[in-house]
Amino acid sequence: MARVALVTGGTRGIGRAISEKLKSAGFQVAANYSGNEEAAKACEQELGIKCYKFDVSDFDAVGEGIKAIEADLGPVDVVINNAGITWDGPFHKMSKDQWDKVIDVDLTSAFNVSRQVWEGMRERGWGRIVNISSINGQKGQFGQANYSAAKAGLIGFTKALAQEGAKKGITVNVVAPGYIDTEMVRAVPEKVLESIISTIPVGRLGKAEEIGSMCAYLASDEAAFITGATMTVNGAQYIAG
Ligand code: CAA
Repeated sequence: MARVALVTGGTRGIGRAISEKLKSAGFQVAANYSGNEEAAKACEQELGIKCYKFDVSDFDAVGEGIKAIEADLGPVDVVINNAGITWDGPFHKMSKDQWDKVIDVDLTSAFNVSRQVWEGMRERGWGRIVNISSINGQKGQFGQANYSAAKAGLIGFTKALAQEGAKKGITVNVVAPGYIDTEMVRAVPEKVLESIISTIPVGRLGKAEEIGSMCAYLASDEAAFITGATMTVNGAQYIAG
């Protein structure tokens, strides 16, 4: 039986490309989504990928969602914690809500999902977790104190969990995309985005598929010795040490 991969936020943007690449690599893919029914329908019809609606920031809802996936497809062997939102603004204008929402969806979600598949991965002696961080978690970004904190948090989470999973055949890694051509990035004011693109040595936005391929590699058997790593995919916009 093909291994089962859960991609959170897996029906749009980077997540959809990850779902697609994992399917091509032979996984049975479950794409999670939170609200966009149209994108979920397109994912099912165009890619033949089953979609599951639940809120990744709600621990109990995640539990129910995973139960449904496991009943349909079998135990979850691969998790790509990709779901994320932005709610940008300079810190002097940032509300408590703006902080909490981004931390819950972008960081706590990774606990909510990983925690509920972890014991199964340990028992089976095999697992792959990939946490989708961001260049802005590595370098910080003006207007994103909430998002940068959440995305940096994912890196620390990964480094700790990689050590815990190592003896049980579970790898845990980060993929840190730069600015990728998605709706999220296109929502940045045009002038601001132009100035950001001018700082990318490769001279363009990244493509969602370029993140998808990296995730598919990390999910493979071949990548067994890569764990606790941060794979930067950003066109040399920021070269982390
Ligand atoms: N560095 C220094 N100053 C900056 C700045 C920067 N990068 N960006 C804006 N400013 C300054 C402006 O020059 C302006 O200064 P003055 O007040 O002196 O004129 C001031 O900040 C703007 O302040 P405002 O109160 O008008 O700010 P605003 O409420 O309009 O918010 C913003 C501005 C929302 C932060 C806007 O600059 C913005 O959208 N920035 C882009 C943030 C960004 O990169 N988001 C990434 C989204 S995509 C993503 O997150 C995916 C991923 O992983 C890469």
